[in-house]
Amino acid sequence: MAPKRSYYIVALPGDGIGPEVLSAALRVLTLAGELFEIHFQIEEIPCGGHYYVEHEREWPEGSFEKCAAADAILLGAVGHEVDGKPVFTKPGKPYPEPQLAGFAQVILNRQKLDLYANVRPVKLYPGVKHKIHGELVQVWNPSKVDYVVIRENTEDAYTGETNSIADGQVTPIRITRRATERVVRYAFNLARGRNKLKKVTCVDKSNIIGAHRFFRQVFREIGEREFPDIALDYAYVDAFCQWQIRNPEWYDVVVGPNLVGDIISDNGATTAGGLGLAAGGNIGDEHAMFEPIHGSAPKHAGKDKANPLAAILAVQMMLDWLGTRHVDERLNRAAQQVEAAVAELLREGKTLTYDLIGEAKAARCSEVGAAVEEKLWRTWHS
Ligand code: IPM
Ligand code: MN
Repeated sequence: MAPKRSYYIVALPGDGIGPEVLSAALRVLTLAGELFEIHFQIEEIPCGGHYYVEHEREWPEGSFEKCAAADAILLGAVGHEVDGKPVFTKPGKPYPEPQLAGFAQVILNRQKLDLYANVRPVKLYPGVKHKIHGELVQVWNPSKVDYVVIRENTEDAYTGETNSIADGQVTPIRITRRATERVVRYAFNLARGRNKLKKVTCVDKSNIIGAHRFFRQVFREIGEREFPDIALDYAYVDAFCQWQIRNPEWYDVVVGPNLVGDIISDNGATTAGGLGLAAGGNIGDEHAMFEPIHGSAPKHAGKDKANPLAAILAVQMMLDWLGTRHVDERLNRAAQQVEAAVAELLREGKTLTYDLIGEAKAARCSEVGAAVEEKLWRTWHS
């Protein structure tokens, strides 16, 4: 595809801390646009659980069509609570079974836009400390934590189906050849492009779940047949959870079924500064949606306290994806500079939120966003 005069970005702030972190991220995006002379047309759409409580629908009519028309989507977070309980949709409004209110944004967008690969880097930036036993420490070596989790993003236990049986409920695990082939190909191609360990680890629970056995079998077939230059590696998810903490340097690209990927990407974030820094891209052949991988954290909402860096790094991933897709180097350069600005802020270790620096010295969400903008502006002008 060719560079565009204007890129249409749909922003879905959602619930909880979603709107505050996304607002900081959108300011960084707007500044990057000004500096690199890229025009972004940004349209914000209210959505999620709080919207459902007011309107009995998850977003205004026509919103999905806007997502489908967008060059890229930016999602904050979904998940709203009332009296400490998560909000689910009512039967028939609009789904037959209750779903998390926000299902349309996070799950249906992934499925209906065919965003089959959920790409979640686990990368530790120099200087980052994180909380273990309530203390801020540096445990892992930044040069040893740099791999990417690729999570299958359209099926597994995420089909939204649950059936009642006599004594309970059954939620199916669906693994198809088509979905598995395309996500493992994505993982192998990524390993090829990274040109690091040239290894892809398949993480699953195939010792017990038959459908995961099928996932692993397809992984092996595609790897052996189409990617002879890439090493195949295998792990069961339970053991993997401890190895990714003990030996993150072993990994380059990791791929697994949806629920496995959900869990190991959060666990991996432990070694990279925590969820406040973890970003992800939901990527398909025609569309993509980027998001911080943390949730809506209702208890922190509205306090200008949450770490906006995950959302800002989601913007960085979006810029990079758009730049490559449209062969528009301005966007790739903007992505590099946003990442450099975040890395420098982390290395300096002064203007950071509570999770990275402790409550006593903590900066606000908006202050951290402004500090990234300042760094970006300075690097550009130097
Ligand atoms: C994520 C989230 C979602 C998921 C929730 C909000 C449905 O945890 O993006 O990792 O499980 O996919
Ligand atoms: Mn998750």
